[in-house]
Amino acid sequence: MPKISKKGQMMPSSPIRKLVPYAEQAYKDGKTVYHLNIGQPDIKTPEIALDAVRVHSLDILAYTRSEGSEEYRKKIAQYYAKNNINVDHSDIIVTTGGSEALLFAFGSVMDSDDEIIIPEPFYANYNGFSTASDVKVVPVISKIDDNFALPPIEEFERLITDKTKAILICNPGNPTGYLYSKEEIKQLAAIIKKHDLFLIADEVYREFVYDGNEFYSIMQEEGLEDHAIIIDSVSKRYSMCGARIGYLVSKNKEVISTALKFAQARLSPPTLAQIASEAALDTPQSYFDDVIKEYSKRRNILIRELKKIDGLKVAEPKGAFYCIVELPVKSADHFAQWLLESYEHHKETVMVAPAAGFYSTPNVGLNQIRIAYVLNEESLIKAVSILKEALKVYPN
Ligand SMILES: Cc1ncc(COP(=O)(O)O)c(C=O)c1O
Repeated sequence: MPKISKKGQMMPSSPIRKLVPYAEQAYKDGKTVYHLNIGQPDIKTPEIALDAVRVHSLDILAYTRSEGSEEYRKKIAQYYAKNNINVDHSDIIVTTGGSEALLFAFGSVMDSDDEIIIPEPFYANYNGFSTASDVKVVPVISKIDDNFALPPIEEFERLITDKTKAILICNPGNPTGYLYSKEEIKQLAAIIKKHDLFLIADEVYREFVYDGNEFYSIMQEEGLEDHAIIIDSVSKRYSMCGARIGYLVSKNKEVISTALKFAQARLSPPTLAQIASEAALDTPQSYFDDVIKEYSKRRNILIRELKKIDGLKVAEPKGAFYCIVELPVKSADHFAQWLLESYEHHKETVMVAPAAGFYSTPNVGLNQIRIAYVLNEESLIKAVSILKEALKVYPN
């Protein structure tokens, strides 16, 4: 039999999805499973976006330009202007989700064996994109006791080698919920300029910021024009995960012209989804006000309920819709599987994401889980109470 590539063998499978067969068995056993494990919002997609594809005047569902339609990119530039980010439509490439923007960014700025420094825990698929791009992830650990704030800048400095090409941050963070302050971005900017690196910021959760805190983008930082690359997406912003639309944004023309070659190789981002996403840009502010209010309420309920559980530690999220929780168990992996396979409370259980998969340092975060608060208030309260009961009887 012909052999699979080494790269293919090295590709990590999703740490979130590996529990799916156990969840499926739990359904077959007649259990209700509360999903705290996955970032699929239950929020409705704006009608204006759905209407745009319900009624359209296309005769041919043709390709668009590889960088996305000009009309759409012009409107995206206006969206950024409203968010105090000054970019031209020519600084934007529309991609098939933020996922493809990450792949294009990695491919455009790094060669085989180059290194990228990423504060961990981080969005697990960064590992997959790094393997696919043959790039080495160099993690710098952020800590639950600091709410996952930016690690001291000296720790980044210590990890920089002549192979380091970029630092990648996720702001606000998945899975940490941490929101980097302006001061932290300035510290990063200084080290980026000093070592002439790229700063890639995954800002797909930009709107999801609570408690009146202000989001500060790397592109608001002066002097980073040649270094900054934003990864963006409509998936969570408009609850349009299935549209598969994202963007790569940079004022560095060489980055854009290089990423465009990757974009040309896959011809075009999806046409219908661009129509829906362009219409989504006209979503009224009241939609976001309601969504942010809802997530903020859920976060408060989740944290309040979690704090009622003995021996549990939780990092207070300031943005996105995730948090990391440290449990009084040895292996969160085992606990998560046990919840699905062996536990039920009145025929109900919960599914959580073990957090070890969000670290690239081995044996870190073994007793942590990530919780996504994408369930309504009642389900959240129920799910946490099931977690509490389960911990009482879990054979640790
Ligand atoms: C931090 C982060 N970046 C990127 C993505 C990719 O999203 P998409 O490809 O749907 O735009 C996700 C999805 O969950 C994410 O959480």
